[in-house]
Amino acid sequence: MEPIKIGLLGLGTVGGGTVQVLTRNLAEITRRAGRSLQIAHAAARDYDPNLPGLDQIGRIGKDAFAVVEDPQVHIVVELIGGYSPARELVLRAIENGKHVVTANKALIALHGNEIFAAAREKGVVVAFEAAVAGGIPLIKALREGLAANHIQWIAGIINGTGNFILSEMRDRGRDFEEVLAEAQALGYAEADPTFDVEGIDAAHKLTILGSLAFGIPLQFQKTFTEGIGKIQSQDVAYAAELGYRIKHLGIARRTERGIELRVHPTLIPQRRLLANVDGVMNAVLVQGDAVGPTLYYGAGAGALPTASAVVADIVDVARVLTTDAENRVPHLAFQPDELADLPVLPMEAVETAYYLRISALDRPGVMAEIAGILGAEGISIEAIQQKEPQAGESHVPLILLTHRVLEAKMNRAIQDIEALGSVRGSVVRIRMEPLAG
Ligand code: HSE
Repeated sequence: MEPIKIGLLGLGTVGGGTVQVLTRNLAEITRRAGRSLQIAHAAARDYDPNLPGLDQIGRIGKDAFAVVEDPQVHIVVELIGGYSPARELVLRAIENGKHVVTANKALIALHGNEIFAAAREKGVVVAFEAAVAGGIPLIKALREGLAANHIQWIAGIINGTGNFILSEMRDRGRDFEEVLAEAQALGYAEADPTFDVEGIDAAHKLTILGSLAFGIPLQFQKTFTEGIGKIQSQDVAYAAELGYRIKHLGIARRTERGIELRVHPTLIPQRRLLANVDGVMNAVLVQGDAVGPTLYYGAGAGALPTASAVVADIVDVARVLTTDAENRVPHLAFQPDELADLPVLPMEAVETAYYLRISALDRPGVMAEIAGILGAEGISIEAIQQKEPQAGESHVPLILLTHRVLEAKMNRAIQDIEALGSVRGSVVRIRMEPLAG
């Protein structure tokens, strides 16, 4: 039988890794797919001519649109990233009746609803396992392995670069900029590294996970996003003294009032497995009503791990090329006409616990003023620590851990605390999650 012909867009980190894995493991992959596979046509602006496996590619050009128009191509693999021209290329490939595999989380999070609708119309598959948590087969687990469950919540470290930066700052006291430069050199960071640092990359991935977990349309704009830029080493140290670590988490939770979709630095108890996931590794905890908590761990970025997910999708498409379109796994896990209209909650309506650091005058009555403000909002304090004043300093750091409360109440309390004459500067607020099953 003729090999299935692949059109590859992009020969960068993930594209190069995909060529390498596909050519190196071709015999084994063919045994799994039931058909041989060949990269018939690739397009890249620029590539390393020494990439392993390059000689196996039928034709390499610069024009990505020529690949999606190439009549011999069955599967278009989009690995150029970004919103445009990725969106136009993918829609054109679908229009031409080609199946699509992509690692592009930004594209799926923002334009997935449109892309899946086009794919349904044409009866083609759009597969995106590599878009979330790199090499971890998390989408497959959610969409297929956990199909029996009501998913209750998901909490995960889904940006390797951010986790790498936080781990290196904590363990080695390294400088933010230096660690970021290393993540870029290793091919972990996004082309625009502010996507990693500001949490946008994690928000893209969480948007996708939320849809897969709860059967709702993709709604990136409603995902609350806070990055790691404001985390200071003193907060990392104070959290550790209280038995917590600060991790940048993506959290999706089903509540009676709606769906929480939020990405922010989070204090989690040191003994939790997630607290011990370091470096560029990703880990995602999924709580289902039948299965309980399940944890998925692995490399969330990098050439070969991401290629592992891309090639797995190619194998899936190769297998479905012979099956009926109606019976394939739905793009967002739920049948398209079964997507729910559950509201995604604004952050003010989310309930969580908090770590607060307040720079307060070291004077009797100040603690009582602060406790009074928290009490007035019904915020209950779990722990308080007052740190030693620095020599010659009038103000001391006060560290408070609170019980769960609505974000709106905490916003009001923080505003009132910051208005106190005895308090200097802004209150540092880091949300806290127990992650108990
Ligand atoms: N920049 C991403 C990360 C790459 O650091 O996790 C994988 O999506």
